[in-house]
Amino acid sequence: MCGIVGYVGPEAGDKALDVVMEGLGRLEYRGYDSAGVALIGQGEVETRKRAGKLANLRETLEQFPLPTTATAIGHTRWATHGGPTDANAHPHRGGEDGKLALVHNGIIENFHALKQELVGKGVEFTSETDTEVVAHLLDEAFARTGDLTQAMREVVNTLHGAFTLLAVHADQPDVVVGARRNSPLVVGLGEGENFLGSDVAAFIGYTRHALELGQDQIVTITPDSYEVIDFDGTPSDGKAYEVTWDAAAAEKGGFPTFMEKEIHDQPHAVADTLLGRTDAEGKLTLDELHISEEELKAVTKVVILACGTSAYAGMVAKYAIERWARIPVEVDLAHEFRYRDPVVDENTLVVSISQSGETMDTLMAVRHAKELGARTVSICNTHGSTIPRESDAALYTHAGPEIAVASTKAFLAQITASYILGLYLASLRGTLEDSDDDLDTILSELQEVPAKIEELLGTMDRVKEIAYFMADSRSVLFLGRHVGFPVAMEGALKLKELAYIHAEGFAAGELKHGPIALIEPGQPVFIVVPSPDSEHGLHGKVVSNIQEIRARGARTLVIAEEGDEDVVPFADEVIRVPRTSPLLAPLLTVVPLQVFALHLSTAKGLDVDQPRNLAKSVTVE
Ligand code: G6P
Repeated sequence: MCGIVGYVGPEAGDKALDVVMEGLGRLEYRGYDSAGVALIGQGEVETRKRAGKLANLRETLEQFPLPTTATAIGHTRWATHGGPTDANAHPHRGGEDGKLALVHNGIIENFHALKQELVGKGVEFTSETDTEVVAHLLDEAFARTGDLTQAMREVVNTLHGAFTLLAVHADQPDVVVGARRNSPLVVGLGEGENFLGSDVAAFIGYTRHALELGQDQIVTITPDSYEVIDFDGTPSDGKAYEVTWDAAAAEKGGFPTFMEKEIHDQPHAVADTLLGRTDAEGKLTLDELHISEEELKAVTKVVILACGTSAYAGMVAKYAIERWARIPVEVDLAHEFRYRDPVVDENTLVVSISQSGETMDTLMAVRHAKELGARTVSICNTHGSTIPRESDAALYTHAGPEIAVASTKAFLAQITASYILGLYLASLRGTLEDSDDDLDTILSELQEVPAKIEELLGTMDRVKEIAYFMADSRSVLFLGRHVGFPVAMEGALKLKELAYIHAEGFAAGELKHGPIALIEPGQPVFIVVPSPDSEHGLHGKVVSNIQEIRARGARTLVIAEEGDEDVVPFADEVIRVPRTSPLLAPLLTVVPLQVFALHLSTAKGLDVDQPRNLAKSVTVE
């Protein structure tokens, strides 16, 4: 939610604007209601900002170019306070002379009271944002202290809420100061130049040396130095790390959209997430899980916390962990968990799932779980982000950077990581020893999944055609059962997000309890059919559901395993997926649904990577 970039280079440098614009391009997934930059040059600060996507700002910069300078900050916005207008676009200026510029990600909860005070002193506001309040406060503090870091320290201690702030001042032209509380900020360390960004994508074209900041910290960068202090002024070292992916990973790689590229990244996302998690004998190892075996054996309940697509990955995980490790698993939307007095104790293992590691609701829920004594594991795709940092242990997914707002490859990587966790818990507890499932067999089936996804991706032409035929649909339903149920919901979510079509995912068993009333002639329904190898006759039950809706006129689009001939008589379309064991099926069955949403969105001429009203990383509650 909002992307921010800061850069400071050598005194005679001229690339500040290019670096910041490039960084904003890579961070645009975080919000695209407006964009803006501020440059320090000739003893003053110059800004350009425009409502709408970054392309609008580029246009403005062509019409009204900025001088080349060595220091700049930039912002791409997801609006919270004040509509998406030019005036509300960041950076915001502080003081009468406008020598200070500020960008902000987050919400200043006490901005109203602070604004009243400033208005009382005669300060005039030019925007409706909470951010402008901070710009004026910082300018006041700078006037008093003559130092931007000191000014930042004074001001952040008066703010409530979540924020990352970056500030520049014309009187300190070779300095950018950043501060973070509950919102992300990473430092990029270059040679004779330094960077700040909401995530490493902001500067990955220039350096892979990064520095993680802790909660409530301020960082001051100059061309040759960086300094980190806590909000109380105590010096800190920050935590240096190397970014493992390169700039190419954050490019489209020849695909027309990031989402299409990321869908095609999925075989790698799964394979890389499995990598290094087995030893030479193929035995599962999770060295990175810094929770002792004794503690894990003592776990009596697992609670999975997540939002959006990650929550659907959590629902898939529930089936696998309960089955393999014989531990009860609850899955909670993070925002529901936090405020309902959950029953959690020191024997509860709380597993959060988050691609970004910054989702505010999930972060707050994890903190709450920790307060209640739970042990916390973060399944996360973003190294150095807040949630894994604040959890007892992190199990990173290795999907690489996910730029498209709608999640695809992260979903598959999250499911994979949760399977690994489930199998690991099962191996510790010996729960697979007397079961029909065999750990080695499951692991080797899991290793075969990437090749199967690759094969499946090669057969998506018909799905694309169906999407184009269905471009005028007003409503699409999705049915699934067992692990197919979260897949159905994820399929519906993708369609809502990308194509703005009414879509609902239902548990197939629930059909007769209500949703069947929605079926009328021509209603398209996707059905995620369980493997014919599923236990308890689930396959047959879903085949009956297909007949029931077909009899009432539904257009049935059936996702079924290769060789499943039972579905053929009742399907208007059969979309085949390779065979795998029933619990692993979501890694395959969701793929055609992602491809369908992608092409339907394209058919409607919509922006696949940046759907309206959404942001990839929701860093406000
Ligand atoms: C936003 C994104 C979704 C994502 C959800 C959770 O709503 O648009 O794609 O699934 O946040 O994000 P997380 O980073 O916590 O997985």
